[in-house]
Amino acid sequence: MRNLDRRKVLSLGVALGLVGAADPAKAWAWASKDSVAGSGTGADPEYVWDSATDPLMVSLLQNGQVPAVNAAMAGWVNNGDALPSGLPAELAAHLRTVNKLPPWADPVKLARAADFNRRKDTYLFMLYGLGSGIMSTVIPREARSVYWSVGGADMKDRAAKTFTFGYDLSQLDAFKPTGQFVVTANKTRLVHGAVRHLLPQSPHWRAVTDQSVPISAADILVTFHSLGTFVRRRLLDWKVPMSAADQEAFLHSWQVALHLLGVPDEYIPKTWAAAEAQSAQVLTPILAPTPEGLDLAEVLLGLTAEIDLGVTRGFLNEFVRYVLSNEVGDWLKLPRDYAAAALVRTVWPAFILFREGLSPVMPGTFYMFDQFVRGLAMLFLNKGSSSTTTPITIPTGNRPA
Ligand code: HEM
Repeated sequence: MRNLDRRKVLSLGVALGLVGAADPAKAWAWASKDSVAGSGTGADPEYVWDSATDPLMVSLLQNGQVPAVNAAMAGWVNNGDALPSGLPAELAAHLRTVNKLPPWADPVKLARAADFNRRKDTYLFMLYGLGSGIMSTVIPREARSVYWSVGGADMKDRAAKTFTFGYDLSQLDAFKPTGQFVVTANKTRLVHGAVRHLLPQSPHWRAVTDQSVPISAADILVTFHSLGTFVRRRLLDWKVPMSAADQEAFLHSWQVALHLLGVPDEYIPKTWAAAEAQSAQVLTPILAPTPEGLDLAEVLLGLTAEIDLGVTRGFLNEFVRYVLSNEVGDWLKLPRDYAAAALVRTVWPAFILFREGLSPVMPGTFYMFDQFVRGLAMLFLNKGSSSTTTPITIPTGNRPA
């Protein structure tokens, strides 16, 4: 998937605000001294999966135990809940080891991150949804595995499940016993483990992939950069006020999330500078369109356009172009709407300045933009609050065709 030449990679990196794209041809060059672990083996995470979870999921799938596990886990929701009864002994033992915060988790930073998420929620949901969500469709491995896994056939349901992760992460008590994020992350880790066993059995996935097993640690880092690193960069670009402590706290919540998803600490960036360096190495060089990604982007934007956000589909397309660059917009074949493009590019910066109290001048179309960002936030929040249980379930098969 090393499909962009270096000059293109650099210009796309700049367009996405992901500075200093590294040479895609180079081997793993990110130093583990820059990780939360502070040291490591230096092994390429391209070939690291989840040795604690994956064999367990193979055995559960092969023994037909997954439906019973899903049923037992349905009511397991809050971080402080006891593990559900009726789980196979090995799974219960595994969850007892991993269903907790790492020793380096800092409750003060996590509380600050929760508060930051609340203060900036409209921008965050908008950037996660229209920025990261659509960017995932030009991350070839992610697009192909999402498309060919069973959930790819029902993107509305899958998007709702994915929202759960973002929603649970953004709650004030996300990491506390009353919150749900630790459980959601652990369920997601199990889902990923199952997918590593299932997707290699899909002839459709095998026909389009460059991997023997999907969702490596490197792939998870790529997705993190398309979420956290990208969102912070855009907030900085847009001059949304963020203190250094806010930024550090935001990173910390992602560090803990990555740990809970099973990424070894030696790959989890310690600082934003280290995260940006890693992102330049793993994310920017691999972005590319695929038939699967094009289909997913159309489905996701179609679903968003179904909600009344007070804007046209042309506006939505141009907003995606604004956030993700015209190059990505062209890859996704998003039709141009030049009037909407001009509106977005001139009013959005003024909208942010006014909304953040940095300018007394209210743009004439303030309320349209305000309804748009609030509508997107509500889209996320409603998905989260419409159910009291995390709907994430372990799959037992792949998308048929
Ligand atoms: C499932 C989040 C990385 C592929 C899920 C689910 C969540 C999630 C919440 C459960 C929802 C569902 O079942 O649909 C994340 C996060 C990631 C990450 C937060 C990184 C920060 C990746 C990567 C890939 C991937 C790198 C592939 C390259 C999948 C697939 C499913 C899944 C195929 C299963 C969908 C199904 O059941 O059909 N992920 N994921 N994920 N994820 Fe991830």
